[in-house]
Parts: sequence; C-alpha cells; structure tokens
Amino acid sequence: MHSTFGQQVAALLQKCAIIKKKNKVETFSEFFIGIHQSGSVYSPVSPNYVVSNTMPLLGYVDLTGSNTTRSLFNYTDFPIDKMVSFTDESSMIDTYLDNPEKYWGGIIFNAIDVADNIINYTIRLNNTYSNNIQGSPYPYIEQNILSAFIKMKTGNSSLNLTLTTTEYPVPVNPYSKTIFNYLFPIYFPLFFMYTLQQLIILLVTEKKDGIKEGLKVSGMRESAYWTSNIIMQVVMNILLIVVVEILCYATKIFHYCSPIMIFISFFLYSLTLSSLGFLISAFLSNPKSGSALSALIVLLGIGLSCLYQFYLNTKVPSIKWLFYLFSPCAFGAFLSQLSFSENQNLAVSWTDPNFTESTAFLVIDFILYAVIAWYAIEVYPGEHGTGKPYLFFLQKDYWFQSSAPVYGKNVNGSSSEIRKINGSSSGHGIELRDLYKEYNSPTVKDQKVHAVNGLSLNIPQGTIFALLGHNGAGKSTTMNILCGMIPPTSGNAFINGLSVKNQMDFIRRSIGFCPQNNILYAQLTCAEHLRLFGKIKGVPANELESSISRSLQEVGLSEKKDTISSSLSGGMKRRLSLAMAFIGDPSIVFLDECTTGLDPMARHQVWELLQKKKVGKTIVMTTHFMEEAELLGESIGIMSKGKLRCMGTALELKALFGLGYIISFSIDRHVKSLQPFEDYFMSRFKDAVPGKQNSNIPKENGDFELSYSLSHQISENLSDFFQEVESRQEEFSVKRIGISMTTLEEVFLKIQSETHEHSDQSFEH
Ligand SMILES: Nc1ncnc2c1ncn2[C@@H]1O[C@H](COP(=O)(O)OP(=O)(O)OP(=O)(O)O)[C@@H](O)[C@H]1O
Ligand SMILES: [Mg+2]
Repeated sequence: MHSTFGQQVAALLQKCAIIKKKNKVETFSEFFIGIHQSGSVYSPVSPNYVVSNTMPLLGYVDLTGSNTTRSLFNYTDFPIDKMVSFTDESSMIDTYLDNPEKYWGGIIFNAIDVADNIINYTIRLNNTYSNNIQGSPYPYIEQNILSAFIKMKTGNSSLNLTLTTTEYPVPVNPYSKTIFNYLFPIYFPLFFMYTLQQLIILLVTEKKDGIKEGLKVSGMRESAYWTSNIIMQVVMNILLIVVVEILCYATKIFHYCSPIMIFISFFLYSLTLSSLGFLISAFLSNPKSGSALSALIVLLGIGLSCLYQFYLNTKVPSIKWLFYLFSPCAFGAFLSQLSFSENQNLAVSWTDPNFTESTAFLVIDFILYAVIAWYAIEVYPGEHGTGKPYLFFLQKDYWFQSSAPVYGKNVNGSSSEIRKINGSSSGHGIELRDLYKEYNSPTVKDQKVHAVNGLSLNIPQGTIFALLGHNGAGKSTTMNILCGMIPPTSGNAFINGLSVKNQMDFIRRSIGFCPQNNILYAQLTCAEHLRLFGKIKGVPANELESSISRSLQEVGLSEKKDTISSSLSGGMKRRLSLAMAFIGDPSIVFLDECTTGLDPMARHQVWELLQKKKVGKTIVMTTHFMEEAELLGESIGIMSKGKLRCMGTALELKALFGLGYIISFSIDRHVKSLQPFEDYFMSRFKDAVPGKQNSNIPKENGDFELSYSLSHQISENLSDFFQEVESRQEEFSVKRIGISMTTLEEVFLKIQSETHEHSDQSFEH
C-alpha cells in the first residue's frame, strides 16, 4: 500500500486549503493588501480619468444685450438641455467650482452683431477635461459657434465647417519623472509581501515543529510537498493578481497596457518571490524571523529598485543587469516604464525593449532562485531532516531513483551488507551498528554532546521492544535516527535490511511514528490529521473514512473527531499522535513515550490496543513506566548515557541485575525467640541478607516479620525448602511465608546507579 505522487499532492493541497480557510484573517489580509495598494496608486492620479459617461453641462453668459445669441444657438448642435445660462462670469465660475466634474466648459458672449460682422466671445475650459486633448470641449464649441455665425451671416445652412485640434508630438524625456512615475514601482511590489510572509511562516513552522519530517516519515515524497506548496502559492498569486487587475482596470489606473502583459509580469514577479520564500525558509528555523526577513527583503528590493530607476540608471547604466538579478529591481523597471507610459498616454507593448528586458530578467530570476532554493532545501533540511551531500546532484541515484529494493539484497550491492538479525540472515527486523550521534553542546563552545554513543543492537521482526533509560539517555535520538528524522554522525542502522542513511525513502513506506513531542497542525481536526496521514500512507479512498473512525475509536477520540488539535488536552494529543502512527497499518511502528500524560484508564486502553495491534508488527517503544515495559516489551533494553547497558526479557534482566528474591516470614507473637529460625535460615542460605526493614519488628497484630533477600543464583531448591518449613511450621511458629521478585524498577535503578559510578562500563547482554 503506497500512495502515488498525485494522491500525495492532492492530500497536501487539501491540507493547505483547509489551513488557508481556517486562517481567515491572514487569507483576507493577503487580498486586502493588494486592494489597499491599488487604492494607494489610484487616489493621487484619479482626476485625470474622471470623465462622466453622460455629456456634462455647458455654461454660458450672454453679455451682448441682444437676442442674437439665442438665434445663434439655433444654428449650433448644442444640446439645449445641457446649456446652463448664468448672469455673469463669476456666478458661472462659482457654480463650476462647486461641481467641477459637471461642467465641460463655459462660453462668455461679449458682443455679437451679424450685420457689422462682429462676434466676440471667450471659451472657458474645464481643466479636468481639457488636460487631455481628446476630452477637451474646445474644438466642439469653436466649430459650432463659428459655423453658426457664418450660417446666420450668409443664410446658407449647408455650410460644412469642421475644426479639429491635435497636439504636437510631445518630446519624450524618459528621465523627466512626475510623482505618478514613482508610485507604481513603490506600491505594486508590496502586493505580494504579505503572501510571501505567510508562505515563509508556514514553511518554517512546518520545518521547526518537525511536521514536514513527520509527514516524510509517513512516506510523503519531498517532491509532493514542494509541488503542493508551489501550486497553492500559484493559485493564491493568480487570484490576487486577478483581483488587483480588475480594480486597476476598473479605475483606469492601467489604461494603455494589455491585461495579459500586466498579468505576465506580475505573475513572474510573484513566482520569483515564492521561490525566494522557499530559499529563505531553507535557512531559517524561526517563523518570526522569517516573517521579518521577508518584509525586509521586499522593502530593500523596492529601495534598491528606486535607487536604480531614479538615480543610478542615468549615471551607471552598465550595472543594470546586476540590479535586475534582484527581482524587485527587474519588476521595478517594468513598473517604472509602465508608469511612465500610462502617464504620458503612450502605448505599451512587448516591442518596447524596456518591457521585454525586465520581463526576461524576471524569468531568469525565477529560475535562478528556484534552483538555489532546491539546492539549499536538499542540503540544509533543518534539525529534523537528513541533508544530502553537497554534490548530490552529480549522483545518478538522485535523478534515477532505483526501484524498491528486493528484500534481502541491499541496494548498495554488497551482499555482506545484508544483516543477520538474531542469528538469522533473513534481514528482517531492525539492526543498529555502532551508531553515534553527536550534537554541539548548547552551552560549552566546541564541546560535543554524545547523545548516542556507539549503540549496537538487534530487534527481531514481529516483537515489541521497549527501550528504557534516564532522561537524556539518548532514546529519542535513537528513534529519530531510525525514522530518518535526523542523520547519525557515524555508524548505521538497518531496517529490514535497508540502511537509514541512504534508503530512507523505501523504509518510510512501512513505518509509523509517534514522536515524543506531538507533531500536529494546530488548525486541523483529529479527523483531518488522520485523513492527511492516511492519504499520504496510501490508505485506499473507499477504506479511508472507516479506518479514520476505527482509529479514533481505538484511542478513545471518537467524540473529538471534529475538534482542532490546539483545543485537545495534552493526553488527547498523545492519543491522536498514536492513532496517526498506526493509520495505514505500517509493519514497523516507533512509539516514543506514547503513554506519557495519559490517565491510568487511557494508558490501559493503549496497552490493550498495542497488544491487539502487535500481530505481525515490529514495535519499538520508549517509556518511563516500568510496568508498561514489563507488560508489553517482549525484549527490553536499558540505555544510559547514549550506550545500551543491557538487553533481554524482563526475567533475564532481573536474573542478571536484580537483587533476586525477597522471602518473608510471619512468626507468631508468642514465640520465645526468633533466633532458632534465623539460625536455621542462615544455615540453609549462606548468602542471604536479612531484610533491612520489618526484621524482628512486631507487626500491628503482634506477630513478627522476618525478611531476607536472596540472589537468583541460589543453589537451594526453593520448593523443597518451603515444604520443609511447612513441615516444621509449629517448631518455628511460622504462620505465613511470602516470596516476591525484584521489580524491573529496581533493576533499572541499579543499572543507572552503577553506570553513574562506572560510567565507562558497559553491560551488554
Ligand atoms: N538538538 C540538540 N542539540 C543538542 N543536544 C541535544 C539535542 N537533542 C538532544 N540533545 C541531547 O542529547 C541527549 C539525548 O537526548 P534524548 O532526547 O535522546 O534523550 P531521551 O533519552 O529521549 O530523554 P527523555 O527521556 O527525557 O526523553 C541529551 O543530553 C540532550 O540534551
Ligand atoms: Mg525522549
């Protein structure tokens, strides 16, 4: 059972979509920032484009003192309903100032005398319309008045007088910038800043919390993870660009540039930022610094872009390409040119080398950043991952992944590498060979912490192995190495004959892991977690929902099915992690303190669950509960200071390290002396050690209690001895005999104290 690449991408995309949907404020903000930036660009330049759809009004003032003006109107095309009469020029101006956009222009008729060939008038133009030659009312007014006057004079109404005005070509000076030219390169690159921040926060959080590695342990392909993130990012960016474009075209911020051209450049820029986000996330381990750094990079980019566009490009144009390698600068160049063209009413097209060059650089930047990001992610996977060698891309294995290795043949080819597990050469089970893991000491410089210090052990297939050890003994480190969460410093471990060093991709297909620290998405519910992990592990779609319900029921979380993980109690989170480890029925399960934090009842349920599930599985568990180890562990290993101190069944360990048996006798209170019995006992068991407590001390009912510790290597047959004591019960006044064995806890404590005394000594069984 293994999921395909497409199934994994679909599962991860669903996870991304759920998180986006649940993070409503963040997702809304991503769009809001785009809308806000459009608004910022819009407001200072808006007067240029406020043109009413219906024809505005035309005011006029008649100072001629005759009716000739009205007669003149009859010869014009002036729409009478749009003509507004004013008594004087100042009242016309006042009315215009109250509603500037309502008035197209005004005419002041000073004198008209057709007979004497006199016509004197002034045209007042509204700057809003006349600023743009196409919108100016001047030719319309002039043509109408002149032709009307001639028609009146000649009486010939068939006159066809046409007046057009057009501007001289404006000498284009690319370096003459207005405030408008500065707006695009400053505001538009900010569009994707918040989206970039969200991307980095998500990636770094998933890396820091070990969620990504947790998914990888469950069989997620690295490529599926990145593909899903890229698709999510592309979808978000496209939506954002479409919203912004609609706004910008609706408000005529963009006028002369085609929407496709705008889309391509914005989209390429968004891709460069996304790959920059992937790159940055490879080097960071703190989401907060990721968020701050992404803002810093975008702002720095805008600063550099402005520095180049508005200052350096006239002085040192030769360094242009160097600047363009930083995508905000290339995008800034595109925007600067766009801004200039829009402002100057110039057509915008790909034939302009300024646009093609900056767009080509956006493509180059995207490829460059994507390649560097891919390299960095492979080589620096963070504290939880296993980094690839620096020259991994030269290795054939990286590009042409070998098919799943045939069991028993190590893919590295060497048959001597096939491991013998407990004497069998089958290669099944888990084998650790001289495993070391060193960390840099967090407190002392240049000092190493030997978390795992030469660990070698074999765990046969189909057994439950319990690993015990004091805090900091190296249990979790060992487990994390076996799951591929961290690489070993040296040595190797083999799972079913496959090396954890370079065959983890195959190993992961058959393992489940419940890490010591819960690896959960705060926003996802219990069912959503199991659905994600189930799909990653390749649980068939028709079985998925039933196996989710079954898993939740097994760990007692059915009622919490739709509760998000951040609202679960600590114990419930542990149970969810346990369910996630078992979903998909993996054949090897690693459980790191899976019952820590559970109430006694839940712990017993988990024990029952493990007993039920263990059939056909190899389970490696760590625990601090001795009874748990004794009950579940068919084989128990005790670690101390990174080394394995002993390994065997609970009985073997007790026999090897325990204090042996404790035999106690209850002796009637009326006995004259205890001495005869004590002498008798010591003569039979020469090495017996009288108990430190209760010996010779009368019990509450008055009887005496004698207790002795015996080693396991007692030569005497205990059952013979008990029969003899029973036969002489009256003689010694013995009322009751009790026997108990050393507990595992005592063995544990003894080993820990011995290793603290002789920390170099090892007691491998
Ligand atoms: N990232 C790290 N950097 C430095 N030292 C580390 C790191 N992780 C673990 N260690 C050290 O490695 C040692 C083993 O840690 P590990 O977590 O394996 O112990 P453990 O046996 O699981 O303990 P516990 O029972 O408390 O879970 C400890 O001394 C710990 O301080
Ligand atoms: Mg641990």
